[in-house]
Amino acid sequence: MQYAAFAAAMMVASASGSEAQDAICTQDTHAITTQSDADSLGSCNNITGLITVQSDTLTSLTLNGIHRLDGSLIISSCAALTEISAPQLQWINDNLTLSSLPQLTNLSLPALETVQIALSWASIPSLTSPNLKTKGVDAYGNPGTNIYGDLTISDTGIETLDFFNFGSFSRAGDVSVTGNKDMKLVNLSSLVTSSLLEFADNGQSFQVLLPKLTTADGLSLQDVMQLNISSLTTISNTLRLEENTFQAFEMDQLNAIGGDVIVRGNPMLNRFGLPALTEIGGGIYSGDFVIANNSALTDLDGLGKLTAVDGTTNLSGNLYKVSLPAMDNMSDGFHLLTTAPDFNCSGFDRLFYSSDISKYSDRYSCATSGTRTDTAIHYRPPSSGPAIPKATKVIIIIVCIVAALLATGIGLRWWAKRRRRGRVPEEPPISLGELGVGEEEGEGVDGLPAYRRMGKPGEVPPGYKARESTQTRTQIPPPPPARPKGIRGTVAGWRRTFIRLPSRHGETANVV
Ligand SMILES: *[C@@H]1O[C@H](CO)[C@@H](O)[C@H](O)[C@H]1NC(C)=O
Ligand SMILES: *[C@@H]1O[C@H](CO)[C@@H](O)[C@H](O)[C@H]1NC(C)=O
Ligand SMILES: *[C@@H]1O[C@H](CO)[C@@H](O)[C@H](O)[C@H]1NC(C)=O
Ligand SMILES: *[C@@H]1O[C@H](CO)[C@@H](O)[C@H](O)[C@H]1NC(C)=O
Ligand SMILES: *[C@@H]1O[C@H](CO)[C@@H](O)[C@H](O)[C@H]1NC(C)=O
Ligand SMILES: *[C@@H]1O[C@H](CO)[C@@H](O)[C@H](O)[C@H]1NC(C)=O
Repeated sequence: MQYAAFAAAMMVASASGSEAQDAICTQDTHAITTQSDADSLGSCNNITGLITVQSDTLTSLTLNGIHRLDGSLIISSCAALTEISAPQLQWINDNLTLSSLPQLTNLSLPALETVQIALSWASIPSLTSPNLKTKGVDAYGNPGTNIYGDLTISDTGIETLDFFNFGSFSRAGDVSVTGNKDMKLVNLSSLVTSSLLEFADNGQSFQVLLPKLTTADGLSLQDVMQLNISSLTTISNTLRLEENTFQAFEMDQLNAIGGDVIVRGNPMLNRFGLPALTEIGGGIYSGDFVIANNSALTDLDGLGKLTAVDGTTNLSGNLYKVSLPAMDNMSDGFHLLTTAPDFNCSGFDRLFYSSDISKYSDRYSCATSGTRTDTAIHYRPPSSGPAIPKATKVIIIIVCIVAALLATGIGLRWWAKRRRRGRVPEEPPISLGELGVGEEEGEGVDGLPAYRRMGKPGEVPPGYKARESTQTRTQIPPPPPARPKGIRGTVAGWRRTFIRLPSRHGETANVV
């Protein structure tokens, strides 16, 4: 379309003789401050250059005689201007910009068919019903007034945009409709692709109809009560929903969002479902996912295919159920803070049943707003388990080796002694009498034989004396080989403490 316009302009330029070269009609800037400035352009059917209008005293402006402007018309900061009229103006090749015109009530552009690059109307609070073209078609065959680029309508008294030919064109640049207190409806019923779409702070019960829109660079809705965007498949940048009064946002075909998803402060929203969406972010944009302050939203279970969030995920609010069964990559962290008192944070890791949660152990949290304490279970990945410094590890290893050598030495000694003892002749058993203990007649307590001491206190019993010099010591059984067993046990203990086997993650379920 741009090319067609350009070609048309070239044809016009080469075919026309003196008119196109007229000094008045072709200038960088045509500055208008009075009606007579405007009248001096009246002889130019076609004008090339920028027309600016700025005056504190001008009350009425009529651009007579101009049919085509290859440039922009910018009318701004005219405190007293109440009327603008351009009865023959059909075509603006660049921009039509009207801004800061507090008194403007009458805008009459009854022949305007085409604005090629941008139409921007801002801070014109008294303008309620502009008079634009209603009959006939433009050079592209589209009826009415057509904007083929960006559209900005901000802080005006306009009630409807139906006077633009939104019914029949399918492409737009950035569309921003904000702060129009009396606007109730934007019906872009044929729009298929657009750049950024922004609607905010318009009239009560504001309605957005974009039934054929399939791709948009970004979509930002604020203070919207009703919407129809049912064909949307792709948002290449951010989806932002804030302070809207609709109850459901369910886009069955939306499968890609290249930027953030921000859903904040929508008091009536009770269903948020993007069942085809697989990833948030993942391209050149950040890809944060924020759900906050949506008091009616208790179940977040309409994201069955979401596998990756490229930025931070912060979910908060009155969430009783969160289900992200396909989630496998939450690269910048995942934080859940819910006012639901019985939300089970200890099962929180099960949200991500397809992912190895240990990869993200320090990057997620789950808390109920009563305590705000993170009560999610955090698995420690094996490598970075308990924080033992390297030096300590080396010392532990050295101690282990020394202990093992010692134990081997003790074991060998014991073994040698055992072999030596094998050669020692058997001793006759020692009688109790020889050890200074005498057996009493009758029975002692509990049926055991009663014993009594013999000899005098301090006296060495004869049995000890007799054996003291010979092999009494070899008689004492050697201690069990406790050291090797102890070390093996300790190593196993450390293993149990420091190394968690990954099998714990296999058993997870999908719903908390
Ligand atoms: C002047 O503009 C009109 C309206 O766009 C166009 O039809 C016409 O060909 C142009 N004439 C010249 C001489 O440029
Ligand atoms: C200005 O617009 C109002 C309605 O907004 C209309 O009643 C009035 O006739 C218009 N005045 C002129 C001079 O066109
Ligand atoms: C025309 O509008 C475009 C897009 O809004 C803007 O980038 C450009 O600077 C504008 N040109 C003029 C002369 O205002
Ligand atoms: C929206 O525009 C289309 C096409 O112009 C029309 O058929 C439809 O009735 C409009 N819807 C509303 C609610 O105005
Ligand atoms: C939620 O709303 C409260 C009160 O309006 C506000 O203080 C808080 O910043 C909001 N939180 C978010 C994440 O928007
Ligand atoms: C997520 O929450 C954390 C902690 O409250 C905060 O620091 C961070 O800025 C939040 N990120 C986003 C994208 O909201």
